[in-house]
Amino acid sequence: MDFRTLAIAAEATSRQATDALLLVIVGDRLPASLDAPLQQAVKDAVALGDFAYKPAQVAYLRQVAGVKAARVTVVAAKDGSAKAVRAAALAGIGQIKGLGVKQVAVLIAGVDAVSAAHAEAVASAAAESVYTYRTTKPSAPAASALAKLTLLVAKADQKAADAGLAVGAAIADGVDLARELANRPGNHCTPTLLASEARKMSRAQGLKVEVLDRKQIEALGMGSFLAVAQGSDEAPRFIVMHYHGAAKNVAPLVLVGKGITFDSGGISLKPGEGMDEMKFDMGGAASVVGTMRAVAALKPKLNLIGVIAACENMPSGRALKPGDVVTSMSGQTIEVLNTDAEGRLILCDALTYVERFKPAAVVDIATLTGACVVALGAVHSGLFSPDDSLAAELLTAGHNALDTAWRMPTDDEYDEGLKSNFADMANIAGRAGGAVTAAMFLKRFTGKLRWAHLDIAATAWKSGAAKGATGRPVGLLTHWVLSQAA
Ligand code: BES
Ligand code: MN
Ligand code: ZN
Repeated sequence: MDFRTLAIAAEATSRQATDALLLVIVGDRLPASLDAPLQQAVKDAVALGDFAYKPAQVAYLRQVAGVKAARVTVVAAKDGSAKAVRAAALAGIGQIKGLGVKQVAVLIAGVDAVSAAHAEAVASAAAESVYTYRTTKPSAPAASALAKLTLLVAKADQKAADAGLAVGAAIADGVDLARELANRPGNHCTPTLLASEARKMSRAQGLKVEVLDRKQIEALGMGSFLAVAQGSDEAPRFIVMHYHGAAKNVAPLVLVGKGITFDSGGISLKPGEGMDEMKFDMGGAASVVGTMRAVAALKPKLNLIGVIAACENMPSGRALKPGDVVTSMSGQTIEVLNTDAEGRLILCDALTYVERFKPAAVVDIATLTGACVVALGAVHSGLFSPDDSLAAELLTAGHNALDTAWRMPTDDEYDEGLKSNFADMANIAGRAGGAVTAAMFLKRFTGKLRWAHLDIAATAWKSGAAKGATGRPVGLLTHWVLSQAA
């Protein structure tokens, strides 16, 4: 979608030529700044019982007297926060996208100023609303005709709104890409396809990309990653994308994504119900590709490297077995007590690999544990880091992106359960604190790094009727990367 701002006096809104006008009303009364024909139309809608000042309540008005736009959609926002405006815009665009509307003008009425955060929220809500998965569904509804969104702002707010729209548009493209990759089924989105899509994106955005095959991964000594991959007939891939926005000697930020393109559990096979959703187990990898794309579009002055370990986790005659001991790239050995705790087995080698970049900071992103789903639900991603300043940066980024995380502990006591009689560590501890012990496993491979881990098991996709990838946490990651350029 194309996003732009237009500076306009509030009294001129009714005279604006547009296919549809989306009027976001902040608060529970008519803003005095709204021009007369629109004031009247909203008053009438309230009197008729068609509209109420309730969060995300939508009314659709046609051919309003004195208003040039043939369609006016009115939606209420609970307050002037970016979060409330986003929810309102999502509801409003949701109504408009099904009409034959090519272009929509959006007015946020009832705020003192339209901020960058408001503009970003509108852009990301619009993109989220119009996304439709169709790659393997020819019968999917036709793409929405809606291709252009114009945010109407006061002259004084235009600069901030333009900046917010630029960030919002870049994140929207990254989120779309992450959703698209994660939504594709496991027989389409294999490690090979993930690598070719990462390459395609990288070429298009001018990024350097390397893709390592099984032989090259073997040569690096990634025994833990390869142990997971060995049960599958699909070839593993190790993907490295480079964004250069600063001098070569500037220490890069590094993102590491879990790219399990299907997680059957392996020999520790998962129950059948809901197993299809384990095609989303590359959501971390998808968010890395999406973030690289967003950052490449915004061109901050820093260096960023995106790394993905991609393979399938399958049972077979060659598969890893419970009790097997594998040697990680770090030299530490791991007793695999449960082959379904495979994410940490591929990530540990990726974390060792990235030491070579002498990074300023490393963030891994993984659909790592069902325990994190239980702990936090789908509201916040789980954030784990022994580094308080890095944790604070990521929490702030999540807040600003409306893509939030919640900090979880990393106390040494949680490491106890990983002890093994047959290797340097086991790959699982007990049931208690499962999301934390998974993070503690990764921590054993990050001694040389300023590191954080995001467990996105509950936030990367939705189940039920709205089953599908969310594109999270591309927003959080992009905001964090941008914050490091200052
Ligand atoms: N990919 C799963 C985690 C997962 C489960 C994400 C459900 C979203 C929903 C991961 O590989 C896994 O299977 N983890 C195990 C770990 C356990 C064996 C210690 C889990 O959470 O059950
Ligand atoms: Mn698993
Ligand atoms: Zn998994």
